Amino acid sequence: MIPLIDLKAQYKTIQGEIDAAIRNVLEGGTFIQGKEVDCFEKEFSSYCEIKACVGVGNGTDALHLTLRALGIGAGDEVITVANTFIATIEAIASVGAKPVFVDICEDTMLMNPALVEKAITKATRAIIPVHLYGQPCDMDAIVNIAKKYQLKVIEDAAQAHGARWKQKRVGSFGDAACFSFYPGKNLGAFGDGGAVISQNESLIQKVRMLANHGRQEKYTHKTLGINSRLDELQASILRVKLKYLDSWNAKRRHLASCYLEALKESDIVLPKTSLQTESVWHLFVIRHSNRTTLQAKLKEQGIVTGIHYPIPLHRQPACSNQQIPYGSLPITERAANQVVSLPMYPELAESQIEFIIQTVLESEKI
Ligand SMILES: Cc1ncc(COP(=O)(O)O)c(C=O)c1O
Repeated sequence: MIPLIDLKAQYKTIQGEIDAAIRNVLEGGTFIQGKEVDCFEKEFSSYCEIKACVGVGNGTDALHLTLRALGIGAGDEVITVANTFIATIEAIASVGAKPVFVDICEDTMLMNPALVEKAITKATRAIIPVHLYGQPCDMDAIVNIAKKYQLKVIEDAAQAHGARWKQKRVGSFGDAACFSFYPGKNLGAFGDGGAVISQNESLIQKVRMLANHGRQEKYTHKTLGINSRLDELQASILRVKLKYLDSWNAKRRHLASCYLEALKESDIVLPKTSLQTESVWHLFVIRHSNRTTLQAKLKEQGIVTGIHYPIPLHRQPACSNQQIPYGSLPITERAANQVVSLPMYPELAESQIEFIIQTVLESEKI
């Protein structure tokens, strides 16, 4: 069987270091707000080439806390895409704001900046571009529009740790960027975890306070916050893994180039990245007009595939009150019917990727 992602295989490659890091935390007896989180925050901000970082409980809270720290709330609109994980809009709704969807680009399946300007109203306060599948959005265009209309930009970088847009790491373009360390991410913890990064240190201090019951000192709560902290065990694991992130991302790029080269003559629509970007291939997402048959053929051969995402957010029952007519996000809707994610993880062997490619090509003939 070839899984979509293999976390056990990754653990085996660094087991000694991980076990030692966990033991160190257990023996130290500090589990919340200790040295591991402090060090991880410094190491991750330096990796992202940015000033400040705060660890939080998960990527959804990272988005929620950032919106709150930026003062976005009831009556405000936030422009984003419907081709993303639901957390992006859960965070918007959780501060009382309204998500406004724009369509995606046909080739990259990311936010189409040309549509953002038309979606701006008097209530618009922010844009959340999502660097989906490990690919950076067109940040020049998005930042320019934000400047023109004085909007905040929050990058949802949950799927793009280490990706670059014009040589700069994602997360350094907007007012802040949010990461998830959900286990399957390019940098994943052994449980939930997340982070917010920014050049604005006072914004990070605000997020830190909100994430820690609204306090900066033990017994004084300046505001009613929440409890959403990265813990010491997860931070110790992330510190070990961060050292490997660039080499794992390089391996993903190599695997992506194998897929792209071998499938270029087929009828499959392959993912396209712009020359400005260095994708970190969180997912390798192809498009096929008959994806059910393709997935079934791959499954027969023991190859697991995924769909990211089969139901665009504006079609989710949770968004039924938005009354968005069919066809208003045509590219998003078409993509949702065609996308298939092929196995992609750094430990995928050459022989396995060759087998996947052969199986995809065989099923094309049928
Ligand atoms: C694009 C995107 N945004 C936000 C999140 C939320 O992260 P988490 O699951 O850590 O809350 C995820 C991941 O699951 C994601 O893929």
